[in-house]
Amino acid sequence: MLEDYNVSKLSIGTLGSHSALNILKGAKDEGFRTVVVCKRGDEIVYERFRVADVIISVKSFEELADDKIQERLLELNTILVPHGSFNAYIPMEKLLKLRVPMFGNKQLLIWETSRDLQERWLKMAGLRLPKVFKSPDEIDRLVIVKFPGARGGRGYFLANSPEDFWRKAGNFLKSGVLREEDLRDVHIQEYVIGVNVYPSYFRSLLHDEVELLAIDRRYESNVDALWKVPATEQLQLGLNPTYTVVGNIPLTLRESLLAEILRMGDAVAEASERIAAPGIIGAFCLETVITENLEIYTFEISARIVAGTNVGIGTSPYAYLRHGENMYMGRRIAREIKEAAEQGRLEEILT
Ligand SMILES: Nc1ncnc2c1ncn2[C@@H]1O[C@H](COP(=O)(O)OP(=O)(O)OP(=O)(O)O)[C@@H](O)[C@H]1O
Ligand SMILES: [Mg+2]
Repeated sequence: MLEDYNVSKLSIGTLGSHSALNILKGAKDEGFRTVVVCKRGDEIVYERFRVADVIISVKSFEELADDKIQERLLELNTILVPHGSFNAYIPMEKLLKLRVPMFGNKQLLIWETSRDLQERWLKMAGLRLPKVFKSPDEIDRLVIVKFPGARGGRGYFLANSPEDFWRKAGNFLKSGVLREEDLRDVHIQEYVIGVNVYPSYFRSLLHDEVELLAIDRRYESNVDALWKVPATEQLQLGLNPTYTVVGNIPLTLRESLLAEILRMGDAVAEASERIAAPGIIGAFCLETVITENLEIYTFEISARIVAGTNVGIGTSPYAYLRHGENMYMGRRIAREIKEAAEQGRLEEILT
């Protein structure tokens, strides 16, 4: 596909949601033409902020894989930049077979869809992980119970004993929040008490460096609202925490934590080379909890741009420290693509 491309007239494209504003604005800042495939009705976002030169409207994101849409993207010499909505709305077989070149390492997107694979990757990197319980009957401390597929924490619950687990699972089955098959793929993790920190990195193959570009925390409904309800009412209502992400909040870290955060990014990138050479290309993010003893536990990894980097559109403190003004994840991605095109190295950063 790349051989047929006019490299001096590349477009950067993505699906219209998640971090598309970030990606498209970054592409424009680096001088690219931009194209967004967006759901009918959502065009307003990309029109109003003037980040898209071409808008392709579809009924569902899955249409990205249709021949007609792919042909149009190929005509525009498009390089796709994947984000969370790619995994969430397009079946993996279709993603892997896309003919339009994609920035990043598709193999690692597969690793990201499985909690077991993620765990292997993070362990290989030597990171500290919450303990995982194979069976509900082994629960001996506070745990968080998760179900397959990124569902923003819907149906997740906390439990502190096997009895507690079965009682709550039973209630969720009865109310229809969970199905029998969900219970077969249940993932039970030690609940780490601490604050959430999400560092976002960019691994540059061209410069052989892992850059820390932004840190955020999430604003989740209803966990971030429970404290407003007094404990007595919480008990009466039987309120359960849910984790629907509503937004992200920028964060700077205590400086003494940065050495470990930087080493963690390096270690994850190094492990990724062993998993699927050449390893991570571009953006990735770790989801961590930091305890009162300043121990950093990592419970998830995303092998692509995360919406948390939207807090840095313009400049984040860490992007500023490394690059000066006006650098952020979307732009950093476009910069790497631009440099690779100039050096004739595009095929090294696309899959
Ligand atoms: N081991 C843990 N200890 C403490 N809190 C946790 C733990 N795992 C998850 N959480 C909390 O639960 C939320 C949802 O968990 P997780 O990120 O695993 O779900 P998800 O389905 O992958 O959601 P998303 O795709 O939005 O990241 C986290 O943002 C965090 O607030
Ligand atoms: Mg998560």
